[in-house]
Parts: sequence; C-alpha cells; structure tokens
Amino acid sequence: MPAIGVPREITDGESRVALVPAVVERLRGAGHELIVETGAGEGALFHDEDYKKAGAVIGDPWSADVVVKVNPPTETEISRMKQGAYLIGFLSPRTRPEVGEQLRRAGVTGFAMEAVPRISRAQTMDALSSQANVAGYKAVLCAAQCSTRFFPMMTTAAGTVKPATALVLGVGVAGLQALATAKRLGARTTGFDVRPEVADQVRSLGAKWLDLGVTAAGEGGYARALTPEEQAEQQRRLTEAIPGFDVVITTALVPGRPAPRLVTADAVRQMRSGSVVVDLAGEAGGNCELTVPGETVRRHDVTICAPLNLPATMPEHASELYARNIQALLEHMLSGTGTPDLSDEILDACCVTKSDNELTEIR
Ligand code: NAI
Repeated sequence: MPAIGVPREITDGESRVALVPAVVERLRGAGHELIVETGAGEGALFHDEDYKKAGAVIGDPWSADVVVKVNPPTETEISRMKQGAYLIGFLSPRTRPEVGEQLRRAGVTGFAMEAVPRISRAQTMDALSSQANVAGYKAVLCAAQCSTRFFPMMTTAAGTVKPATALVLGVGVAGLQALATAKRLGARTTGFDVRPEVADQVRSLGAKWLDLGVTAAGEGGYARALTPEEQAEQQRRLTEAIPGFDVVITTALVPGRPAPRLVTADAVRQMRSGSVVVDLAGEAGGNCELTVPGETVRRHDVTICAPLNLPATMPEHASELYARNIQALLEHMLSGTGTPDLSDEILDACCVTKSDNELTEIR
C-alpha cells in the first residue's frame, strides 16, 4: 500500500493540517503507512503524540508515495518529492499555473482539491464546500464583532432593540451557511443570487429572497458572468436595496473570473452608520468597491472587512472536514488496482499534471 506523507504547512497564517489523527487512524487501518512531519498539526492543536497514537510515524513526509497538503507546495518542497509520487492539495491551478509546471518537471502527479467537480459522487471530496462552510459561519461572527448594534431583538428594562437586518449576496455554500448563522444569531435575513434555483434554499433557511429580476444561471451549478449591461442594472438595483440593511455579507463568485462588483461606494455611503460589510471575495478582488483584501477599513462610518483564509481561524474543525475530503479522494484514487485511473471523471477534472507525466504504479 502506498505510504502517505503529511507535511507541516509553511504558508504564512496557515494553521490547518491536511490529515487529523482520526483520519490517520482510518488510513492506517486500511494498510497505509503514514509519515507525519513533526509539528504538522500544532496549529490545529493536534500534537505529534496524537499522530503517533493513531499509528503514524513522525518523519520526512516528502519521502512518501502520496503527499497530502492544504496549500500549494513551494518549489523546494516539490524538489524533496520522489519521481512518480502523487501530491494532493489546494494547488491554485487557475492563479498559480507554475505550480503544475514545477510538479510536472519533478515527475509528480498533482491533484488539485479546488478542481474536484461539484457532482453528487464527489460530494465527500468537495473541499471548497467544506471550507466555504467555515468561511460563511465565520463571516457572520466577523460582522457581529464589528457591528455597533445587536443582531437579535432585545427586550430589556431599558427598552427594546430591533433585530439587525442581514443581506447575503451570492448564496452558494458560504452564503447559505452565512444565512443560517445570521438567523441563529437573531438577525432578519435576506438572500440574493443570480441563480434563481437557490430561492427555495434561501426561504428554507427562514430568509427572504431579494428578487432583483437579474438572473445568470451558468453551467455545472455555477453562475455565468453578467454582461456589462446586466451588471450595471444589478448594481443600480442593489444600490437601492443595500442601505436598508445593517449587515451585508458578500460571497459572489464565478469560477476563474474576477469577483463581480455588487456593493458600490455609493451604496456604502447610503448605509446607516455602524453598519458592516463582510466581503468574502477579497482574494478575487472583492465584491465591494471599497474592499481592501485582508483588511478591515472604515468608510463613511461603515466597517468593511475582507478577511482572507477564514478557515485557518477555525483550524480544528476546518482540518477535520478537509481531512475527510482528502480521505475520500484517496480512497477513490487508490481503490481497485492502486493506480489512479485518470480517465475517471473526478480524477480527470482535478489532475493538474497528467498530460506530460509518466505515471508509475504505486503500491
Ligand atoms: P459558490 O460558487 O458556491 O457560491 C458563489 C455564489 O455566487 C453562487 O451561488 C453564484 O451563483 C453567486 N454569484 C455569482 N455571480 C453573482 C452575481 N453577479 N450576483 C449575485 N450572486 C452571484 O462559492 P462558495 O464556495 O460559496 O465561495 C464563495 C466565496 O467565498 C468565493 O469568493 C470564495 O473564494 C470565498 N471564500 C472565501 C474564504 C475566505 O476566507 N475569505 C474562504 C472560503 C471561500
């Protein structure tokens, strides 16, 4: 059975780890050798001792047949891998194509977790979704933290406070979780998306559906980019609607495109002072015109937060969910002959180096 290596993540601010001890134990049970780098789980409070108890050895993970990671590897890390090995992780194939090229040159086959297709069969491997769930939840907590007002209705001897109103723009995985979390905190919630089919999901979470008359359903369950005219119309209607909310959380994204501009500076100017915008799309440029990716800024007495890598702020559960996604992909990849079948729909979609790579069988 192939040996599996788990390195310590060296990306700044990263506290997650690709495999947690419980999943290590499962993979050991299936006959794999597990090699974990010392300190790999420290950021998520999983200690070397926990991994050893789960059956791993603490050693050089890069010597393994399959290396599993969270973030893309550096060139130095890739140079430590053996030829014919496999690497699984977020590999940023769209934004960092050089990683795929470096892997190819090193004779390593890379599987990008962000490219796992959103089909039923691959749901257990869908790491974008598992991590977006964490981000949607944490976005609401950021909003509550920055708000000058309560989320829930408060009836006190000193008077009654009205519940906050929260609008979520872009209701995919992160957006649905944001709606559910804001509702649990007591806010009155509203959702908007250009895919009309999500209206029922929004309502099932006790939220209102904001109908702007702009739709843009695309392929594979994703939205298509709006035409410039549609975008102008959407911005105009949103600029009218946004000032009615205390909290706006934006998660709108079309894969491979810059984030659509949904919240204009004009809309922010018209919001009540003390309101909050949390923009989850900072990495793709932001859904709000005033977003500064990775920062919290105050404009026109409105706080605009654009946190990056929110999953790393909840490393235990984010790692647990991610580890289960990796486990599912590994089991799928190595089932049968032990050699990944690259004609398989899932592996074909997420393999970033296959065309020029000599594949070696791993056992
Ligand atoms: P998703 O693809 O499930 O959802 C995105 C939604 O945006 C879709 O429902 C889509 O229909 C909608 N959308 C696209 N264009 C739109 C438009 N013009 N107007 C309104 N809605 C539009 O994506 P997911 O997984 O929920 O992620 C959402 C965002 O959160 C992404 O930008 C992702 O990069 C980001 N993210 C950020 C994290 C952070 O720490 N900041 C962590 C995880 C995800």
